Amino acid sequence: MRLSHIIRAQQFNRDILAEVFSTAKEMEKIVKQGGSDILQRKIMATVFYEPSTRTRLSFESAMRKLGGEVITTENAREFSSAAKGEALEDTVRIVDSYADVIVLRHYESGAAERAASVSIVPIINAGDGPGQHPTQSLLDLYTVEKEIGHLVGLAIAMVGDLANGRTVRSLCYLLAKYNDVKIYFVAPEVVKMKEDIKDYLREHNVSFAEESDLKAVAPKVDVIYQTRIQKERFGDRTEDYEKARGQYIIDKSILDIMRKDAIIMHPLPRVDEIRPEVDADPRAAYFRQAKNGLYIRMALLKMVLLG
Ligand code: CP
Repeated sequence: MRLSHIIRAQQFNRDILAEVFSTAKEMEKIVKQGGSDILQRKIMATVFYEPSTRTRLSFESAMRKLGGEVITTENAREFSSAAKGEALEDTVRIVDSYADVIVLRHYESGAAERAASVSIVPIINAGDGPGQHPTQSLLDLYTVEKEIGHLVGLAIAMVGDLANGRTVRSLCYLLAKYNDVKIYFVAPEVVKMKEDIKDYLREHNVSFAEESDLKAVAPKVDVIYQTRIQKERFGDRTEDYEKARGQYIIDKSILDIMRKDAIIMHPLPRVDEIRPEVDADPRAAYFRQAKNGLYIRMALLKMVLLG
């Protein structure tokens, strides 16, 4: 199945999701066997205007493990010609003649869509400001299916900065494709989930509730999806940031009341919202989740470049 641009989570249907996940399983085998050369002579450009560890490095590793080449501009805001005032559209028109696929992270919501409107090669949205992070939501869903065993009937708590969290936004769009999902939003007042997502969930008959007591929600769910309060999105609203930080922490007291078969996820990076004492618990799935990013991104590169 040929994917072209990957811009938003809504573009995936259940059939494509199933194909992405089965291709990711193949990729796990390929990695165990030491890699492959199916993307030989293909070039991927990573153009990142915001910091990243997992997304950029997992895409670059994914491309290399499939035999492809990588060109990159890390910190494009400072080290690409954006620093001289070049428009994103012009940069994309140049890079698309050097690469077969462009992986773009940008600080503005809608940037990937703007890039796709001018690019002659596929654009993969690696996070556009507070907009979306579709490849993260794919690896999140893949992790849930692997760890919990089902998506239909899933109960999930999304916790933390839901207003600025592009990963939870994209994940809501994907979860809306499965029946009987129940979502609990647990967020400080200043960073509650935005109305556009809640409207989308209502339109698609997805059950959700806004809760303030994490201890009341934790025993009910298959997944606690914790997120960081994104200081960088508050600008000069330091009072709001101080109000939000530290309200919801995953620590031993939460582990004690969670179900034994539940898991804790986090897109990472974390600051202090999951205490280090949690890491040793088998229900702490966030490092396994990050590893799944490699397999999902290998699958996406194969599907985008070879069909
Ligand atoms: N989860 C995620 O997007 O991590 P990075 O910011 O490190 O890419």
